[in-house]
Amino acid sequence: MIEVEGLTKRYGRHTAVDSVSFHVRKGEILGFLGPNGAGKTTTMRILACYLPPTEGRARVAGFDVFEAPLEVKKRLGYLPETPPLYPDMEVTTFLDFVAKVKGVPGRERKARIEDAIAKCRLGEVRFKRIGYLSKGYRQRVGLAQAILHNPDVLILDEPTSGLDPKQIIETRDLIRGLGGDHTVILSTHILPEVEMTCGRVVIISKGKVVAEDTPGNLTRRLQGAGALRLEVLGNGAAVAEVLRGVPGVLAIHPRPAGEGLAAFDVEAAAGQDVRALLARAVVQGGFGLLGLSQVGMSLEEIFLHLTTTDAALETGAASDTKEVSA
Ligand SMILES: Nc1ncnc2c1ncn2[C@@H]1O[C@H](COP(=O)(O)OP(=O)(O)OP(=O)(O)O)[C@@H](O)[C@H]1O
Ligand SMILES: [Mg+2]
Repeated sequence: MIEVEGLTKRYGRHTAVDSVSFHVRKGEILGFLGPNGAGKTTTMRILACYLPPTEGRARVAGFDVFEAPLEVKKRLGYLPETPPLYPDMEVTTFLDFVAKVKGVPGRERKARIEDAIAKCRLGEVRFKRIGYLSKGYRQRVGLAQAILHNPDVLILDEPTSGLDPKQIIETRDLIRGLGGDHTVILSTHILPEVEMTCGRVVIISKGKVVAEDTPGNLTRRLQGAGALRLEVLGNGAAVAEVLRGVPGVLAIHPRPAGEGLAAFDVEAAAGQDVRALLARAVVQGGFGLLGLSQVGMSLEEIFLHLTTTDAALETGAASDTKEVSA
């Protein structure tokens, strides 16, 4: 439903989006995750035909965003980072105006507006002026205008920003409910959002895609390559020597330990369980094995790891456990 191939956007010498490629299947909800300035909004604006790409191409429902923007806009609803709302208009008047602009046929208009009001729970403020609404309600109006013409594809730029916890949960439920019928891309830097709402996540950092998978797989894949925490009775340098000789061990990081003790975080190659080998090496080296445990990574830590180092998942890079356990 959405195909992005080698998309690049340069502002002068600054590359905001750098050869980004990903696909979204019909009915899928894709989370677009990245820190501030990663290029999320820029990518979404290109998809919504508001910005031409410098290179590469993007297709929505089979139409090129650059060559056939009218066809794309018919099938796409867009919630911008700051929705352009008319503060003097009442909610229903505004939605009626948007429906006309979007070319919703007169006989369908009323039903479409009512549906959007119901889905975005705007009933109690429908006759209020937009300028008098709280930020959360204004965000809902933004969402209502995006879904008004019942588009196949929804591009939502930080749909829950500025909402209170109750509204966040309601909006997440709403978005989850839109999946299936609609294909959705939503951007966020809030991790629970993608875990709870999205079937798949694309992580973008400094304009580049650094990972793409289901939230569950991302966690599992990096946990497989994650760290083991080891506590040993013995001399640190001597123990380190032994650990380095274990096949599958990529790196070891010393940790603070008490008198006569040594502690390490051990990075192993992706998909290799080196626990048994480590235990045997320690014991055969004549040291006392006091503890050996897996250090799990939350999606939060994975995100930090992927967006603060150059490591990509594809290289099977393991976590820097000193960084994530701090
Ligand atoms: N019109 C512009 N002119 C010059 N640089 C721009 C322009 N718009 C965006 N940029 C730059 O492009 C980069 C990506 O910005 P973008 O808004 O896409 O990031 P983002 O991932 O949406 O960040 P945030 O989480 O803060 O919304 C940033 O470095 C930004 O400063
Ligand atoms: Mg943004």
